[in-house]
Amino acid sequence: MSDVTASVKANPSNSVNGVRSQFLEYFNKNKHEVIQSAPLVPQGDNTLLFVNAGMVPFKNLFTGAETPKHLRATTSQKCVRAGGKHNDLDNVGYTARHHTFFEMLGNFSFGDYFKEQAIEHAWNVVTKVFGLPAEKLVVTVYSEDEEAAALWRKIAGLPDDKIIRISTSDNFWSMGDTGPCGPCSEIFYDHGPDVWGGLPGTPEEDGDRFIEIWNLVFMQFDQAKDGSRTQLPKPSIDTGMGLERMAAVLQGVHNNYEIDLFQNLIAAEQDVYGLKTNEENIGSFRVISDHLRSSAFLIADGVTPSNEGRGYVLRRIMRRAMRHGHILGSKQPQMHKLVPALVGEMGAAYPELGRAQAAIINTLEQEEGRFQRTLGRGLALLDDATSSMGKGDTLPGETAFKLYDTFGFPVDLTQDVLRAKGIGVDEAGFEQAMKVQRESSQASWQGAAEGDAIKVWFKLLDEYGATEFIGYAKEASEADLKAIVVDGEVVNQVGEGQKAELVFDKTPFYGESGGQAGDRGEIRFAGGAVFRVLDTQKRAGDVFAHIGEMVTGEIKASAKGLMEVDSVRRSNIRSTHSATHILHAALRNNLGDHVTQKGSLVEEDKLRFDFSHSGTLSQAELDAIEAEVNSVIRQNAEVSTREMAPEAAIEAGAMALFGEKYGDTVRVLSMGEALEGGENSYSVELCGGTHVSRTGDIAVFAITSESGVSAGVRRIEAVTGAAALNYLKAKVAIAQSIADSLKSTIEKAPERVVALQEQKKSLENELSDVKKKLAMGASAGGAAEGPEEINGVKLLARVAEGVPAKDLRGLIDDAKKQLGSGVAVFVAVNDGKAAVATGVTDDLKDKISAVDLVKAAAAAVGGKGGGGRPDMAQAGGPDGSKANDAVDAVRGVLKG
Ligand code: ALA
Repeated sequence: MSDVTASVKANPSNSVNGVRSQFLEYFNKNKHEVIQSAPLVPQGDNTLLFVNAGMVPFKNLFTGAETPKHLRATTSQKCVRAGGKHNDLDNVGYTARHHTFFEMLGNFSFGDYFKEQAIEHAWNVVTKVFGLPAEKLVVTVYSEDEEAAALWRKIAGLPDDKIIRISTSDNFWSMGDTGPCGPCSEIFYDHGPDVWGGLPGTPEEDGDRFIEIWNLVFMQFDQAKDGSRTQLPKPSIDTGMGLERMAAVLQGVHNNYEIDLFQNLIAAEQDVYGLKTNEENIGSFRVISDHLRSSAFLIADGVTPSNEGRGYVLRRIMRRAMRHGHILGSKQPQMHKLVPALVGEMGAAYPELGRAQAAIINTLEQEEGRFQRTLGRGLALLDDATSSMGKGDTLPGETAFKLYDTFGFPVDLTQDVLRAKGIGVDEAGFEQAMKVQRESSQASWQGAAEGDAIKVWFKLLDEYGATEFIGYAKEASEADLKAIVVDGEVVNQVGEGQKAELVFDKTPFYGESGGQAGDRGEIRFAGGAVFRVLDTQKRAGDVFAHIGEMVTGEIKASAKGLMEVDSVRRSNIRSTHSATHILHAALRNNLGDHVTQKGSLVEEDKLRFDFSHSGTLSQAELDAIEAEVNSVIRQNAEVSTREMAPEAAIEAGAMALFGEKYGDTVRVLSMGEALEGGENSYSVELCGGTHVSRTGDIAVFAITSESGVSAGVRRIEAVTGAAALNYLKAKVAIAQSIADSLKSTIEKAPERVVALQEQKKSLENELSDVKKKLAMGASAGGAAEGPEEINGVKLLARVAEGVPAKDLRGLIDDAKKQLGSGVAVFVAVNDGKAAVATGVTDDLKDKISAVDLVKAAAAAVGGKGGGGRPDMAQAGGPDGSKANDAVDAVRGVLKG
């Protein structure tokens, strides 16, 4: 047993899981709401790749755009730093404290307490909860923040030499280029004079003696794109404690990778890779343990590996780990075998990990398989390219790009491989070559959701609260118009012909979400005014925007409207939406539990369902899935909806979507009867959409296509109800028209087509024989034209229209036999182009080469080159009208 394992066993509160619970418990006791970690993919915020700090999910609370439900909160937030600001990927594995994935413990005050209480809490947690001796602690404050310095003196009794003033950005924290920010104060732990390193702010600060354990940010400003800062409405508190660091201090180790959690992961790696750690390979073990965590958590939050945006960052992380697996000797995909160990370590704190286990395993295995197929060849190319290089040399950017483009080597992987040899990479050159890809990838996650437009909606949310959705039970209702938004601004009235977005106190219109399209319909007002709704969207989370146009009349913001959803359309949407649930379950039944929903689109006349799975689905699989969906439809079982807490729903077996953030209560949709009998429903999902009341309402389900979206993600498109019937009828009509042309019936048509194909083939063969005979000059009617003689060599030359080029070899063989000794040249003309073949009998091939002859012939028909052996050669040329010149060219060569 290692020292750490023994110490954690003796004192489980020092384990990673113990530290996390103690922290959350302390703040819970001090009136903070414990909030589950938000998904790693920021929700409704496209300015950031991944959540990279505990405060990110609360950004709108800090800026005041959104009103907090609780004034104090505490979390253990999943964070990924690998891309964009706070990019740590390159260092991971080579240093003691860098991770791509880590947990950030934090306490937050949204305009409630400020500096004084934040410092008090921090001091309590560090010295009382975790029991660190005060004399081992040092703090920093921003150089202009005398208030913080005074508070540390007063609350902690720290002497002046332990309150260090820092003037650099180290003590000014910001989330990204824009957003909330403020001065901060950090707490450091002193490992004692035996460890090299100096106080923060000294040249030796990067040593291991003083380790930062907690950052308290005094949020005061909102930074705009141009760098200017405005005061936040209420000063707030954001803190961040790296869980892994704190655990390391409490477990008495310097390197985060030595804490219990990593030791257990590394033990699992030793089993899987069949290798013990040693000084040389420990870096690879550490890289894998870190990257396993980020990959698994990203996949659980719905990211799949791809070549752009978030999916590309995931791919880079996965491939870097897999390369290190290769160093440890793995020839087969192995990384996926580590997932159960990770779920064992972290699954209790993050239940999404267990739920996504099958998908994580499948995604890792597929990606490693893909990567291993090119890894060896890529490394060989890299070896080749650097064979004459040494320390300090630079690999050209184009080579790095080729490795990326052809072998799937992200540039940091190339850098990682070359690091050991001290060779760098021309990053500018690589960037140049990558520019196009990168631009398209950034376009996919930048922009939108920012700025003033969103503020209007948060303001409406503040003023009028969330719109009440009453559309599960009703399709028409009276409601009070609360606000009119035109071009992103609130206005008092809207007139005929104008486009606008209307907000009511309640609505039967469904706002687009969960893949289901927003409702359309009409809203009538007193005096005959009519507004046509073309789409309904949810803004700022819960404000329903009815988007459309005033068809007649004009209205003011205080009007009462009679809201009517287009009910035929809504009813069709219900069918397609319920069908996606049944399809989801059918896919899992037929293909396996690794199938998870990756996206869906539910419209009036069709549905689209994306899911994780590798490889094309066979026709037999598609048929089985389609048949199963239809059999559940025919059960005509009641569809039930229950409201409950998300945890209870998941416990009851509901399929939650990865990366989705659920509210306090969720709707659980149960559909159909389990095929194998028993109590359970066929499908149980969390869903806020609108659904049929019995499965039979869907009537018919037909798959219209199956295709690939990206690596490991497939898409099924399908239709239901009348649209399905129309689709199938249209297919029958096509079959009927084929049968009619064949003067047959639909039933007999396939047989007729096969017979026709066979007949065609045999006619083609016959025709080709006839053409060959004609070419040889032995046509049915006439005698063969004999060979001519040039310089004592017999030459058989033919120009043949319509003889397939592939037949020329056979013709040359025949001609050589016929000649006994001599030379043959055949030019076939098809579609205006010429194909030339030349042959020389064995007795002459030392003197005359078929290759020389064919080159001369090819040149005459505008071709370049030609190839073969001295006894037989072939070439082609674009100009079939010069076929006779080609023969003349051969004559010319023979004449010498
Ligand atoms: N948001 C602060 C950080 O990440 C606490 O350090």
